[in-house]
Amino acid sequence: TCLWAADIELAKKSTLEKILKNGELRVGFEAGYMPFEMTDKKGRFVGFDIDCAKEMAKAMGVKFVPVNTAWDGIIPALLTDKFDIIMSGMTCTQERNLKVNFAEPYVVVGQTILLHKKHAGKVKSYKDLNDPKFIVTSKLGTTGEMAVKRLIPKCTYKSFETEPEAALEVVNGKADAFIYDLPYCAVFHGQQGAGKLIFLDEPFTFEPIAWAIRRGDPDFINWLNNFLRQLKNDGRFDRFYQKWFES
Ligand code: ARG
Repeated sequence: TCLWAADIELAKKSTLEKILKNGELRVGFEAGYMPFEMTDKKGRFVGFDIDCAKEMAKAMGVKFVPVNTAWDGIIPALLTDKFDIIMSGMTCTQERNLKVNFAEPYVVVGQTILLHKKHAGKVKSYKDLNDPKFIVTSKLGTTGEMAVKRLIPKCTYKSFETEPEAALEVVNGKADAFIYDLPYCAVFHGQQGAGKLIFLDEPFTFEPIAWAIRRGDPDFINWLNNFLRQLKNDGRFDRFYQKWFES
């Protein structure tokens, strides 16, 4: 009958139907973005997003399947169905939002600066870096890179494939500043910044972070936003936040 045909059409488009049918939630992320997703010494994926993803799978009654994916290709991978959702500290930008849908934001971050200590007191904001004599690093395809190109257009920009490569360039004195999301810079500064880096921790961009899914799937967005509200208000979100951001 017509109804049955309509159900088949729906199942093809509805990610929720597919997740429940397959009994697994495939979560795309790129490990290395502290403290949202990292690989621990035993090779397991850990972090704030990972904890939220496991809660999500539990609430659906399905298995959590992590899919570690290079950042640069993460949106194409979502669009070609390599996983069901991106949970990877992704900033909801208007440009990305033309290609994917975002659930409500769960954290707000902004760009900050890890500065080589030789510039202490002389460089006070990103504006002071807007000169070709400054070598500024960030990561390929991120909002850090977009911020450098848009707001510090005159600096000498060097792009890296991973966060640690870009940040270590400053530690090693080969670059003057690393521009990146506040939480990452805070953790990196705590781990490797002592005596080498100055953390200019006043965010100079506004970046809501949200889960991304394929467009045209209102059922999934509805489920995600209601799940997020529950997570945020029943204590689990605060517990994860304290575990990863405040310890
Ligand atoms: N928030 C930044 C962006 O959306 C960086 C996110 C990087 N995430 C990662 N898992 N490496 O571009």
